[in-house]
Amino acid sequence: MKKTDQFSNYFKPGAFAIALCLGLGHLKAQTIIPIETANNALVLQAGSNKDVNTIFFGKKLANKQEYAQVAGQYKQTSDYTGQLNSIYTPSGSRNLVEPAITVTHADGNNSLDLKYVDHTVTAIDDNVSLLKIRLKDPVYNFEVTMFYKSFYKQDVIEQWTEIKHNEKGEVVLHKYASANLHLKSPHFWLNQYHGDWAKEMQPEQSEITHGIKTLDSKLGTRANLFQPSVFMISMDKPAEENEGNVLYGALEWSGNFKIDLELDYQDNLRIIAGMNNYASPYSLKPGEVFATPAFLYTFSDQGKGAASRKLQNWARNYKILNGKGDRLTLLNNWEATYFDFNEQKLAELLKDTKKLGVDFFLLDDGWFGNKYPRNSDNAALGDWQENKQKLPNGISSLIKEADQAGTRFGIWIEPEMVSPKSELYEKHPDWVVKQPKRPEYYFRQQLELDLSNPKVQDFVFGVIDGLMTKNPKLAYIKWDCNAVIYNAYSAHLKNQGHFYIDYVRGLYSVLQRIRAKYPAVPMMLCSGGGGRVDYGALQYFTEFWPSDNTDPLERIFMQWEYSYFYPAISSSNHVTDWGKQSIKFRTDVAMMGKLGFDIVVSKLPHEELQFCQEAIKNYNEVKPIIWHGDQYRLANPRSGSVASMLYVNEQKTAGVIFNYLVNYRYEEGSKYPIKLNGLDAAKKYQIKEINLFPGTKSSIDSTKTYTGDFLMKVGFNPNLNNNRTSVVLKFEEVK
Ligand code: DGJ
Repeated sequence: MKKTDQFSNYFKPGAFAIALCLGLGHLKAQTIIPIETANNALVLQAGSNKDVNTIFFGKKLANKQEYAQVAGQYKQTSDYTGQLNSIYTPSGSRNLVEPAITVTHADGNNSLDLKYVDHTVTAIDDNVSLLKIRLKDPVYNFEVTMFYKSFYKQDVIEQWTEIKHNEKGEVVLHKYASANLHLKSPHFWLNQYHGDWAKEMQPEQSEITHGIKTLDSKLGTRANLFQPSVFMISMDKPAEENEGNVLYGALEWSGNFKIDLELDYQDNLRIIAGMNNYASPYSLKPGEVFATPAFLYTFSDQGKGAASRKLQNWARNYKILNGKGDRLTLLNNWEATYFDFNEQKLAELLKDTKKLGVDFFLLDDGWFGNKYPRNSDNAALGDWQENKQKLPNGISSLIKEADQAGTRFGIWIEPEMVSPKSELYEKHPDWVVKQPKRPEYYFRQQLELDLSNPKVQDFVFGVIDGLMTKNPKLAYIKWDCNAVIYNAYSAHLKNQGHFYIDYVRGLYSVLQRIRAKYPAVPMMLCSGGGGRVDYGALQYFTEFWPSDNTDPLERIFMQWEYSYFYPAISSSNHVTDWGKQSIKFRTDVAMMGKLGFDIVVSKLPHEELQFCQEAIKNYNEVKPIIWHGDQYRLANPRSGSVASMLYVNEQKTAGVIFNYLVNYRYEEGSKYPIKLNGLDAAKKYQIKEINLFPGTKSSIDSTKTYTGDFLMKVGFNPNLNNNRTSVVLKFEEVK
C-alpha cells in the first residue's frame, strides 16, 4: 500500500486519486479533492472556512483545473447555509435541510459542525484507491472520517464513515448516514422497487419532486421484503438501456436502511443513505469507533445497460464470494416433497441427480427436530439435530448415499430462527427476540434469535461448524431467513437503541467466522424468497435466491430487474412446477443465471427428461459466458411482446441469446429483428438454436454468417411466435 498526503499528487495508470492544493500555507484558500475513475469524477472541495462540499459529480473533465470553475456556471438561488452541498451535513448549527449526522453530545448539547482536518489517498492496487477525509467539530472533541474506496475500471465508489469522540461521557448518535451525495440537474427521475413474498423487484419510475422521498425498511431481518435498497437516479430525463445519465445506488447492509432523496430549495438532489435510524439512537463511548456500512454507487452517461455492466463487473471482481469462480448446478427437494420425506424417498431423489446431470442434491427444510419434529413450519427451528424418524441414519448416511450415486450433497438451514415449539426456546427463552411484557407475534410461526448476544452468535456459528465438522463432505449450504422482526427487544442489551444495528453486526460476525474457517463452501443467501439480497451479505455468499416465485413468465420480468444490480452468476434460478409453461420454457428461463431444478425427475415424461438432460449439457457449455461474460438487455418485456437478453464473452467471440414471447395474443411474435449488442462489428458470426425440444426442428438457418456490424445495426430475428415462445440462440465467431 502506498500513502500520499494532501500536499502531493498521486498518479498511476489505471488508478488515481489526486489531492490538488490550490492555496499556500497550512490554511489553504481551497483544497480540491477529485475522486476520478475511468469515466467519472466526484470532486470535493474544502473551502477557506474548512467546510467540505461537493462541487462536481458526473462525467470527468479532461482538465482537472476546471473543476474549480464548475460552481460559477450555476446561477441558482442563494444557499443560505454555505453547506447545502456538504459531503456530510451536520445538524444543529447552520443546517436547514436533511442532515447526514445528528448527535447529542455528552453535555446534552445537540449541535454539530464538521470542519476539514486533512485527507490521505492510499493506492490499494492498480485499480483501487482509498481516500480518507478527516472532519472535526471545532467546539466538541468529535470526529468523522469519510472513506471513499474507488474502483477505477468499474467506475464504482464505495463510501462509508467512521465516527468517534473523546468527550467526557457517552454521545448519542441519532443519525449516522454512510453517504451524503449532491447532484445537479434540471430534472431527476427515480427508479425504485417494491414487492412482497413472490412479488420481489417490482419496478416503479417517477420524477422526483421537491421535498424528501424516502426508501426504507424497518423489518430488521429480510429487510428487502417490501423494498430493497437498490435504486437508480436518472438525470435530466429517464435513462434508457443505451442512453442517458444514470446513477445506481445500493446500501451494503442487511438490516434496516434509509435512503432520503431530497430535492432541495435550490433544485439539487441530496442523497442521504445509510442504516435506518428508526428506533436506533446509538450511544457511543469515548474512544469507541462507530463504522457505518458502505453505500455503493456507479454512474453512466450511456444508459442503464452500461451502468449495470459496471456494477456486475465490480460485484464479480470485488464483492460476491468467489465471484470469478464456478458454481454448482443442483436438484432441490423442496417443491418435490415439502416436509414429507424419509431416507428412502430422498435416496430415490438423490439417484435422479446424476440421471438429470446436475452437480449435487440439496435437502431443504424438514430434516430436523425430535421432541418437536419439523413436519410443518410451526416447529423445531433451533433444534438442528436430524429427525430420527425421517433420517434414522443421519445426514452422514445421505452424504454416503450421494457419494455412491456419484453426486454431492447440500443442506438447507435457517440458523437465525427459533420456533416457539422447540427445545431451544425452552432452554434459552432469553435468546429469543420478543417483548418481555407483550404477547408474542409470529411471522411464519417463528421468531428470531437475538444475534446481538455473543452467546447466540456462538450458537449460530456452532450450528454451521457442527454440521461441517461432522460432515466435511457437505457441498453446499442454503441459508434461509423467513421472518421479519416483530417486538424488537433484546434481553442481552442494556440499550435497546442498539438492537437493530447490533443484530446485523452479530450476523456479520458469525458469517465472518464461518468464512474464516470455511472460505470456499458455496452458500445461497435465501430469505423466504428474495427478502435479503444485498451486497453487505453477498460478500459471504456465492449466490442468492431471487424469489419463491419461479413461474418462468414472472421470472423473466424479475430476473430482468435484478440483473441491473447483480450479475447472473449470483442469481439462483430453478426449474419448478410453478407456471403453465412447457419444461423447455421453464428451463430456458432458469438457464439465465445459476441453474437448478426443483421437480420430481422420475415423474418427467421421457421426452421432457431427455430435453432437460440435453439442456444441462448445453448449459455446461455456455455457463462460463452467462456467469462471467457481459450482459446486454436487447428487448424489454415491459415495452413489447418480446424479451431478449444477450450474454457475450470478453473476447466477443461467443455468446448466447435468450428470447421469449411474453404476450400470447393472436399472431404475436418477433415481427422485427432484434438488434444485438456487445459484438465486434468486424467479426463474422454464425447463429444456432440450442435447447430444442426432442422432435422439433429449428427454423433458424445455422449455416448463414453475419457480421457483428449487421447484427448490431439490422439485428436478428429469433422467429418467436405462439408455437415458438422460447428460443435460445448460441452464436460463435467464424473465421
Ligand atoms: C423459503 C425458501 O425461499 C424456500 O425455497 C424453501 O427453502 C422454504 N423457505 C423452506 O421452508
